[in-house]
Amino acid sequence: MPFYQRLGDVPRKRHVQFRDNGTLLTEEVMGLEGFSGNESILYHLISPCRVEKLGDFEPIERKEWVPDEHRPLHLKTWDVDSGGDALSGRQLLMWNDDVEISLCRPTETMDGFFRNGEGDEVIFVHEGSGTIESIFGELPYTPGDYVVVPRGTTYRFAPDDGEQRYVVFESPGLIEIPRRYRNEYGQLLEHAPYYHRDIHPPTELDTHRERGEFHVKVRVRGGYQTYVLDYHPFDVVGWDGYVYPWTFSIHDFEPITGRIHMPPPSHQTFQGRNFVICSFCPRKLDFDPQAIPIPYHHSNLNSEEMIYYVDGNFASRKAIEIGSVTLHPSGIPHGPAPGLAEKSIGMTETHELAVMCDTFHPLRLTKLAQKLDDGKYWHSWFEDPAPVGTADEDPAGVTSHF
Ligand SMILES: [Fe+2]
Repeated sequence: MPFYQRLGDVPRKRHVQFRDNGTLLTEEVMGLEGFSGNESILYHLISPCRVEKLGDFEPIERKEWVPDEHRPLHLKTWDVDSGGDALSGRQLLMWNDDVEISLCRPTETMDGFFRNGEGDEVIFVHEGSGTIESIFGELPYTPGDYVVVPRGTTYRFAPDDGEQRYVVFESPGLIEIPRRYRNEYGQLLEHAPYYHRDIHPPTELDTHRERGEFHVKVRVRGGYQTYVLDYHPFDVVGWDGYVYPWTFSIHDFEPITGRIHMPPPSHQTFQGRNFVICSFCPRKLDFDPQAIPIPYHHSNLNSEEMIYYVDGNFASRKAIEIGSVTLHPSGIPHGPAPGLAEKSIGMTETHELAVMCDTFHPLRLTKLAQKLDDGKYWHSWFEDPAPVGTADEDPAGVTSHF
């Protein structure tokens, strides 16, 4: 999606004969929005339609939790159960018709392949490194990466040894670079907080010429359909176009700061259908002598604000810790903890790292959210102001957005 890429061998022109050892290759146009959106053209050794057997269809079942009260939530996710692989290990936390947000701490390697047939994905890698293996080639990932996987991409995670911890966003709509960051030709503008050099497409194309039995699980129509193939799905000898998986590191997001407080859209990283994903990164704080370097209280009347805390010292905000998720639901105001506005004055920088997802329609919660809920965050604005902090406390306290 970000810009034109090409990997492996492709013919001189599209839609002409292209052979491998004399055998005509199968050309596949993988495109968005009919034939009007971005597309890539892939050249397969074998037809991607060739299916030996139909496996099971597993419907997606969500266990919803409807809290008894409407209130802000604090979910402690750090100790959420680990297990499964990068697909089966996804544990849905909250969702609506536009986006699903899951936690994932996989301990196993995928023995099959996955394709999201009806949604784009952004996988934020909190811990762990490895490689996404895909029909578009190999895509290395490290902590702090957003892995952007467009619908239709057959892939699997090949994690390195060690802990893996992800936050997964899946959307039936497109997940894109914000339109206002791009000019009419698609190039990222000078005011954008990242540039094309920060976007990493697949590095190598490893064409598999392998017969056998391969299971590809495809998310379609509210469930997962497994297809059994008699050849390896990574049989692409070359591709080009605008559709492919890519990574962008949160550490390459260039924060935008101002003399007085900058609003949340300055942190926007991706746009989705009725939601945004933002990155709160270490940065200098507002520098006017009269500035209050943390946000004003605000009523997010028609959006829900979910924040995942990645790193930093959150001592200024009681109980918030790495892996915490706060959800400020629509319809009621929220803001910094008591006393924090006063305490923040004169502070010059923040070291917090957080990922936020704001949705324009209410989020529904799962039983997992109920299990992780601390049950008392809503009362934190009623409590005594935080004591004057020590020098090593992070002055902004839990992102400069609340
Ligand atoms: Fe907020």
